[in-house]
Parts: sequence; structure tokens; C-alpha cells
Amino acid sequence: MFTSVIRRTWFAVLSVGFMLAIGGQALADSKVGALAPGSKAASIQPSQCVEPTPYMRRHHMELILHQRDKTVHEGIRSKKYSLAACIDCHVARGDGGREVPVNAEGQFCDSCHDYVGVSLTCFQCHATVPTPASAHK
Ligand code: HEC
Ligand code: HEC
Ligand code: HEC
Repeated sequence: MFTSVIRRTWFAVLSVGFMLAIGGQALADSKVGALAPGSKAASIQPSQCVEPTPYMRRHHMELILHQRDKTVHEGIRSKKYSLAACIDCHVARGDGGREVPVNAEGQFCDSCHDYVGVSLTCFQCHATVPTPASAHK
């Protein structure tokens, strides 16, 4: 679909090394749902999320909300659909590994949401960059 086409385009652009030439951040910022430059997600080969991408596009909110309920109400902590893990893998890393908050304008968790008019309250409490406690174990 739309996001998949532009994502592939973005990868194509990346792979031919245009990123530096045209200012990777500005380009990434204009691509809804594009993987963040410098993120672990962007470096994984073969490229894979915790579930297949088309499923993630439509259902990621159900996975994390369900995960939250399991953790907060039942005390079950699984890493697979942890919000902390989403952030650890999807956060952009800029110059010198500096992490860019996932919900900053144009960043991974903002791009589609801005596009569809969703506004998350999650980050009032949850960290928007990986924290030592959230790092993969
Ligand atoms: C008022 C503060 C607050 C808000 C707002 C909030 N959470 Fe949480 N959340 C917590 C606390 C506290 C925990 C339990 C401590 C922990 O596990 O980090 C938690 C745990 C979780 C977990 C399980 C731990 C993990 O990293 O997977 C998930 C998933 C989660 N929240 C998702 C969400 C999502 C999605 C939203 C937004 C829709 C949200 N939370 C909004 C406070 C909040
Ligand atoms: C270990 C790394 C990793 C983790 C953890 C991870 N993802 Fe992903 N995610 C990826 C990769 C890589 C892709 C792109 C897959 C592809 O190219 O098809 C992706 C794709 C996505 C997409 C689709 C993006 C698009 O352009 O259409 C969404 C939405 C998404 N992830 C959300 C999440 C959420 C929410 C979580 C936490 C529950 C999460 N991801 C956890 C690596 C990860
Ligand atoms: C590929 C586009 C895309 C990406 C990337 C994306 N989302 Fe979403 N997200 C959506 C769409 C579309 C909705 C609204 C679905 C609806 O209205 O039912 C949504 C809704 C949500 C909701 C539910 C909001 C609510 O108030 O009910 C949560 C939670 C959420 N996303 C978390 C995340 C997190 C965390 C990330 C980054 C790791 C992320 N999303 C990245 C497209 C995306």
C-alpha cells in the first residue's frame, strides 16, 4: 500500500547512499511510517518486526495495549510486545548515536499518527528513548 511503497522507496534511496547527499533527516521526516535512520529496525536484515509488517501496520496498537494489560493487571512481563522494546528498536540514532525521541515530529511513532490524526498519551509516562531498564536483555 501507500506506506509500503514509500518505505521501499526510502530503502532504495538509502541503499544507493543518497542519504548524506540530500539530508537524510529531512527526507525521513517527510515519509510516513519510514523506518528511522540509524535505528536498529533500519539495520535488521532481513528486515522484520515482531510480527509481519502488514499486520503491524494495522494491529500494533492492539498488541501493545494487550501487553500493557497483561503487565499492569496480571504482572506478566513478556518482552515480545513490550513498548520499551518497540522504542529500543525503532528509535532513530543521529550523530554520535544521539537518540531522537520516537514521538518527536516526523519520527517513527509520530509520522503515521500525525497523518491520521492520532495523538498518544502514552509518552506522558513512558520514555521516548531507550532507558537502561528498557534495553534488551
Ligand atoms: C499515567 C502513566 C501511564 C500512561 C499514560 C501509560 N502508561 Fe503504560 N505503564 C505505566 C506504568 C506505571 C507501567 C508499569 C511499569 C512498567 O512496566 O514500566 C506501564 C506499563 C506498560 C506496558 C508494559 C511494559 C512494557 O514496556 O511493555 C505497556 C506495553 C504499556 N504500559 C503501554 C502503554 C501504552 C500503549 C500507553 C498509551 C496508550 C500507555 N502505556 C500509557 C504507566 C503509564
Ligand atoms: C527488533 C526490532 C523491532 C522491534 C522490537 C519492533 N519492531 Fe517494528 N519493525 C521493525 C522492522 C525491521 C520493521 C520493518 C519490517 C519490514 O521492512 O517489513 C518494522 C515495522 C513496523 C511497523 C510498520 C512500519 C511501516 O512503515 O509500515 C510498525 C507500525 C511497527 N514496526 C511497530 C512496532 C511496535 C508497536 C513495536 C513494539 C510492539 C515494534 N514495532 C517492535 C523492527 C522492530
Ligand atoms: C505505519 C503507520 C504507523 C506507525 C509507524 C505507528 N503507528 Fe500507531 N497507529 C497507526 C494508526 C493508523 C493508528 C490508528 C488506528 C485506529 O484509528 O484505529 C495508530 C494507533 C496507535 C495506538 C492507539 C491509539 C489510541 O489512542 O487508541 C497506539 C497505542 C499506537 N498507535 C502506538 C504506536 C507506537 C508506540 C508506535 C511507534 C513504535 C507507532 N504506533 C507507530 C499507525 C502507525
